[in-house]
Amino acid sequence: MIRKATINDIPYLVKIEKKVFEQSLGEDFLYDEFILNPFAHYFVYEKNKEIVGYIGFRAIDKESEMMNFCVNPEYHSQGIGSEILEYSINYLKDLKVKTILLEVRKSNKKAQAIYEKYGFQQSHIRKNYYGSEDALVYIKEV
Ligand SMILES: CC(C)(COP(=O)(O)OP(=O)(O)OC[C@H]1O[C@@H](n2cnc3c(N)ncnc32)[C@H](O)[C@@H]1OP(=O)(O)O)[C@@H](O)C(=O)NCCC(=O)NCCS
Repeated sequence: MIRKATINDIPYLVKIEKKVFEQSLGEDFLYDEFILNPFAHYFVYEKNKEIVGYIGFRAIDKESEMMNFCVNPEYHSQGIGSEILEYSINYLKDLKVKTILLEVRKSNKKAQAIYEKYGFQQSHIRKNYYGSEDALVYIKEV
């Protein structure tokens, strides 16, 4: 089941982030997003009442940007990421968003594969965006 994220979910989101990225956007960041930011849209994927993945966007008028996207590694490659991404694209479409932008590590081939599967196109490179690693910027026209 995919549903809107709430502040009660934050500890679980941080836990998943730490597992996949070894660092997190942080509880304070997420709290501000959920409570203070009217442009933020975050969703969780629940399986048997356990949060196994989440995705977040900021959408302002016709433009949106992905803030984060991750699935608990124990549940990778089971189609959950695809479901979450597809749901979000449709949600943003309903908001009349026209473009979705995201950054991904140059080495993260798996994430690039899922973005390409959903029609994101590589736009440009942000040099050393992740410390010593470049980011590839992907854009999708909705
Ligand atoms: C990226 C991520 C969210 C995908 O979630 P997932 O649930 O594993 O994704 P899915 O099972 O729906 O697979 C989606 C696509 O990824 C690719 N993929 C899946 N498993 C793969 C693997 N083991 N190796 C390479 N590509 C793979 C395939 O293209 C797949 O599509 P297909 O099944 O139609 O062939 C997940 O891998 C993750 O949390 N990664 C760590 C965090 C991250 O990198 N986030 C993105 C930051 S920009």
